[in-house]
Amino acid sequence: MNYPPHESAEKHVTGEAVYIDDILVNERLLVGRVVYSPHAHARITSSDLSAARNVPGVRAVLSYKDIPGHNQMGPVVKDEPCLAEKEVFCIGQAMFLIAAETEAQCREAERLIRVEFEPLEAILTLEQAIEKKALLGPSTNIERGMVDEELRKSAHVLRGELRTGAQEHWYLESQVCLCMPGEGREINVFSSSQHPSETQALIAEVLNIPKNEVVAEVRRMGGGFGGKETQANHTACWAALLCNATHAPVKIRLFRDDDMIMTGKRHRFLSRYEIGFTNEGEINAASFELNSDGGMAIDLSFAIMERAMLHVDNAYYIPNLRVVGNVWKTNLPSNTAFRGFGGPQGMAVMETVIDRIARFLKKDAADIRRRNFYGTDARNTTHYGQQVENNRIPVIIRQLLASSEYEKRRRECNEFNEENEFLKKGLAITPVKFGISFTTTFLNQAGALVIIYKDGTILVNHGGTEMGQGLHSKMQQVAAAEFGVSLDRVKVNATNTAKVPNTSATAASAGADLNGMAIKNAADILKARIAEEVARIFTEEHPSAPSGPASVRFEHEQIFDSDHPDRKIPFSEAMPVLNQRQVSLSATGFYKTPDIGWDKRKGFGKPFHYFAFGMAVTEIVLDVLTGRHTIVRTDILHDVGNSLNPGIDLGQIEGGYIQGVGWCTTEEIKWDERGNLMTHSPDTYKIPSVQDIPKDFRTQLLEGVPNPNTIRQSKAVAEPPFMLSLSCWLAIKDAISAVADHKFEPEFSLPATNEVILLSIENLKQKLTAEHQTAREVAAVR
Ligand code: MTE
Ligand code: MOS
Repeated sequence: MNYPPHESAEKHVTGEAVYIDDILVNERLLVGRVVYSPHAHARITSSDLSAARNVPGVRAVLSYKDIPGHNQMGPVVKDEPCLAEKEVFCIGQAMFLIAAETEAQCREAERLIRVEFEPLEAILTLEQAIEKKALLGPSTNIERGMVDEELRKSAHVLRGELRTGAQEHWYLESQVCLCMPGEGREINVFSSSQHPSETQALIAEVLNIPKNEVVAEVRRMGGGFGGKETQANHTACWAALLCNATHAPVKIRLFRDDDMIMTGKRHRFLSRYEIGFTNEGEINAASFELNSDGGMAIDLSFAIMERAMLHVDNAYYIPNLRVVGNVWKTNLPSNTAFRGFGGPQGMAVMETVIDRIARFLKKDAADIRRRNFYGTDARNTTHYGQQVENNRIPVIIRQLLASSEYEKRRRECNEFNEENEFLKKGLAITPVKFGISFTTTFLNQAGALVIIYKDGTILVNHGGTEMGQGLHSKMQQVAAAEFGVSLDRVKVNATNTAKVPNTSATAASAGADLNGMAIKNAADILKARIAEEVARIFTEEHPSAPSGPASVRFEHEQIFDSDHPDRKIPFSEAMPVLNQRQVSLSATGFYKTPDIGWDKRKGFGKPFHYFAFGMAVTEIVLDVLTGRHTIVRTDILHDVGNSLNPGIDLGQIEGGYIQGVGWCTTEEIKWDERGNLMTHSPDTYKIPSVQDIPKDFRTQLLEGVPNPNTIRQSKAVAEPPFMLSLSCWLAIKDAISAVADHKFEPEFSLPATNEVILLSIENLKQKLTAEHQTAREVAAVR
């Protein structure tokens, strides 16, 4: 395959890529530091900042009283103070800000801040929140069919509970922001943010200045993964307050431990379900209750719960379905967006249900999956009323079962397990169907500003941000293709709120879809202008046979008349001529996703422009004595439409899968009984390493599936592959189950850490012993 590498790949590996901490600033740069609450819930009874303010080199020590504007950073609901006032609601909540010439002076000042607290009762678990009825907002509900009646009529009903864990984003670049004062009230913000327009807006609000005085710029992030969709704003607001107070450049860069303690994570869920199905394993009714830990404020929790509820069906048609979502308030940092945005939590419930039905009926789970998949002509409407169009599941399952040799390897696993006592193998296949669009419909818009300079080079500005996912590479390719020029003629600018305003976050996997179309729109406008003038030039040269703009083409670095192919002018030579002929060579573009709409209250409509599909087969081998597993082989077949860049898409699929494997296996977040995060550095929090990558990793893009009505018939890629990792999680369950020869169902939760695995094995062994015991007793009686 021939495709360009990531536009910054070389800079990434040589270290030349400029992240915020690399931006050169003059010697007046101050270090900013955030002083945060050591209590999960407490009243602040007194505070004294005077000694801290007198430390030599300290230029500002701020509390909420020093905020010129609103003390607010809530992105959707104004329930998140920028700095704590009279009460703190979690450990890690910001209380004071310090700016000083050195880090050491900041620490000295922090030591001298005197605060007294009166500790209050804290809610630290979902169970406590549920018991105390501490909801962050009203419960929501989506329902279709006659759920209770159908459950009663079902041949079999399974009930259960599933816990899925939190997850730390672990972007390599921690939260960071550099603010530089301009003249008057101006402030220039360099933020590691997925959402520069919101960063700009919130800074304007805390500083009480208009938005046209704030410019936010993002060259690139060292990873975001959802963790910088809203919560980059916090660091940015704090840096802006210090910059405003000192009239000097200020940079705040959170230390890894502080970042992990202060920022929100993936929402942990406690989910309950009741499933009715036939003897063949066909599901006819399901009732779900999803409970998420929102933390101390709302942030994006309701949108995340909504996506969980819209993905609780995963790829399966369930005629009668009810899902209730509750977002609970705890005294922990506010939980936030994380790749999949609730989708993984919803799908984990459904996939566990399928696995349980298979174990109950003693069938292979792949057969239960196939029986319940959405159809193409019938059984193809979701519980929220959207039709599953262009369903790729049937073709994917067919191709993947064959290419992964599923049946053969299933038999081989069984044989292996019969022959080995201390090593057990497990195999699982899981699908993904993921809706693409923000479920908050108005967010599905994007803008671009495309500039052609007189030398024929092109500068593309768009509203999306680069976080490693390759968005800028794709946007560079789109612009080059639209103008028919080579890639080296096109540069993508840093994202800047003064160039493209009022943008949405780069999130929901929709970055390329939305911004690609906005760039195309700008290119179309420019091309129309250029074509008109070039046709005029051609006509001046050939007055007897005029050229018209309709036949002007842009290909291979040339602008030519397709009706008279000898009439042509190189793109680069045309631009200075057009400039002399007074043609405007810059244009803005805009796009909004057509034909979507979603009634949140009714839980009905078409929230998504389309669905992305994929499937994975994972085989693992489990060491029964230690609980350690190794991924032997993973086969993935994923649908990205006509890929804009297969190299980048394969990277997203593999990376997403591995990030999901982390969530499913080793990444466990723990708090102590005071609400202290115990896993706040890489020595206690285990993300996947090279050792955890499948020994044999086969990822393929589904071929021949152009996606209608999208930029160059491509499809979003970013989040859906994350959920393919559920195949690893269920493969582990399969291996555990083999310990007792699949006689009993293992107890299981997510993440399947070594501890969870060993406890589950122990539990099975006890059941086996008890069974032998009964068998012996029965034999003795006879
Ligand atoms: N890939 C890398 N390398 N780094 C990231 O931070 N974020 C993910 C995904 N892939 C991320 C990534 C998330 S959560 C989203 S929503 C998308 O990228 C955002 O980018 P896109 O919309 O351009 O795909
Ligand atoms: Mo991604 S969780 O939508 O930033």
